[in-house]
Amino acid sequence: MIAKLTTAADFIRSKSKIKPKIGLTLGSGLNSMVKTIDIETTIPFSEIPGFPQTTVEGHSGKLILGTLAGIPIAALQGRIHYYEGYKMDEVVFPTRVMAMLGIETLILTNSAGGIQNEMKPGDFMIITDHINLFGDHPLKGPNIEKFGPRFPDMTYAYDPKLVDKMRMQFEKLNINFHEGVYCGVTGPTYETPAEIRYLKIIGGSAVGMSTVPECIAANHFGLKVAGISCITNLAAGITGEKLNHKEVQDVAGKVEKQFSDFLIHFVGSISNQ
Ligand code: HPA
Repeated sequence: MIAKLTTAADFIRSKSKIKPKIGLTLGSGLNSMVKTIDIETTIPFSEIPGFPQTTVEGHSGKLILGTLAGIPIAALQGRIHYYEGYKMDEVVFPTRVMAMLGIETLILTNSAGGIQNEMKPGDFMIITDHINLFGDHPLKGPNIEKFGPRFPDMTYAYDPKLVDKMRMQFEKLNINFHEGVYCGVTGPTYETPAEIRYLKIIGGSAVGMSTVPECIAANHFGLKVAGISCITNLAAGITGEKLNHKEVQDVAGKVEKQFSDFLIHFVGSISNQ
C-alpha cells in the first residue's frame, strides 16, 4: 500500500510544482467549485498510477493543483465512494496521496440529507462530529505506523478551530448555516423513513454516503479536518417526497456561488492562523 501511494505521489510531484498546504474534496454537484481555484495542473485520476476511478454520473475524476486565496491547494474533483464497490483503503487512497503531498488541512465537502428540524434544501451545515455507520473502517488491518497510531484519537475529528473559522465566515457573509453531526452510511439507496427516525434518535443531524472514511484516514495522518455539508434535500420521510440524485445535484449546483464565496474566505482565514 505504501509503495502504491508513494508511486502516485511521486507521479503527481513530477507533473506540478505546487506543494499543497490544503486538500479539498468536492462532493456531488459541487464539482464546479474548482472554478474558484487558480489552476496550475489538472490530472485525470485515470493517469495517476494506482488511483481508483470514479464511476458515478456527476462525479468526474480529476486531481487539480493550484492556488486558492493565494494558498497552494490540491483538490479532488470527484471522489471515490464505498458504494461503487471499492474497499475502504481504495476509498481513502486519494486522501492519503494528498497527505503524502504534504497537506496539513483537509476540507471535506459533501451533499447530505437534512435530518435536523429547521433545515431546508440549499442550507449549509458545519460538520462538528460524525457517526460511522459504514460497518467497515479504513484503518482495519495491519496498522501503517508511518502514517499514524494503531488507535487514533477522534475527540476532535473535526478541528474545533476550523469549526470556529467556518462559523465566522458564514456569519460575515450572511449565509444561513447549521452545525451538527454527519451520519456516514454506505448507500447507494437513500434511507427509509424508519432509518431516518433512527438516525435522529442516535444524534444525527444530516446523512450522506461519504466523508467519514476520509476524515478517519486524515485524522490517522494527523491532519486537521474541516467538514461542510450542503443540505440538498430533507432526509427520507420528512416531507413525503421521493428522493433522487438529480435533485441532489441541482440543489448543490444552485448554491455554488455562495459555496465558492464561503470557500475563498474560509481558505483565506486558514492561512492567517
Ligand atoms: N441520504 C444520503 N445521502 C445523501 C442524501 C440523503 O438524503 N442527500 C444527499 N446525499
